[in-house]
Amino acid sequence: MAKTLIFLGPPGAGKGTQAQRLVEEKGFVQLSTGDILREAVKNRTELGKKAKEYMDAGKLVPDDLIIAIIEEKLKDLEGKDIILDGFPRTIPQAEALDKMLPSIGRSLDKVILFDIEDKEVIRRLSGRRVDPKTGKVYHVEFNPPPEGVEVIQRDDDKEEVIKKRLEVYHQQTAPLVEYYKKKNKLFVVNASKSPEEVYKEILSVL
Ligand code: AP5
Repeated sequence: MAKTLIFLGPPGAGKGTQAQRLVEEKGFVQLSTGDILREAVKNRTELGKKAKEYMDAGKLVPDDLIIAIIEEKLKDLEGKDIILDGFPRTIPQAEALDKMLPSIGRSLDKVILFDIEDKEVIRRLSGRRVDPKTGKVYHVEFNPPPEGVEVIQRDDDKEEVIKKRLEVYHQQTAPLVEYYKKKNKLFVVNASKSPEEVYKEILSVL
């Protein structure tokens, strides 16, 4: 059966960075709800218009919108190994996923928890830059973009929004740690290490 993984962890823990590498080197498909929403905002679709206000404020987009997006995307990924990056983020989203997976012939393999302290997250997010053409993620200090690559800062990487996102993570998403621990699906990696070391830890878990 095709693999189904969840990447769980605070904003800026490195979920997207590691997912991109697994896509490039191991053939996974990354399903990032954040990327899907940002694309919708950019293209000013109905979804984008609804989501923008929440995202700019660092709040979560309502569960029903997110669950519908994931349901739609999963239908097209039959037989593919997938990483759910940034979903689920609330208990109702996790319960919806539990119902959804068997109905499309999948089951959850592992949840990888990216363990990292808030102060490190703040350093990472305030220095993050993105290449809008390729979606590649860089960091002004830890992984500077190559010369000639023009990068931008995400709207929600401003200091006051970062603080709000962390607060929302601790309130609404952190309860998922217990949820998946009880199901024996949770595997913890030390996300404060270098990207290479984190990648190796993930491979050893997989
Ligand atoms: P989303 O895009 O999912 O944001 P996030 O979870 O906050 O995660 P990030 O993308 O900020 O961080 P990351 O862990 O991927 O870190 P990265 O690899 O970039 O969501 C955005 C918004 O969309 C939410 O606020 C919400 O409004 C909405 N949304 C999305 N999903 C939703 C859902 N399910 N329900 C409701 N609303 C939803 O790394 C960060 C930086 O650190 C980079 O600069 C990187 O180069 C650097 N870095 C990475 N790894 C390392 C390392 N090991 N050492 C040093 N630097 C590193």
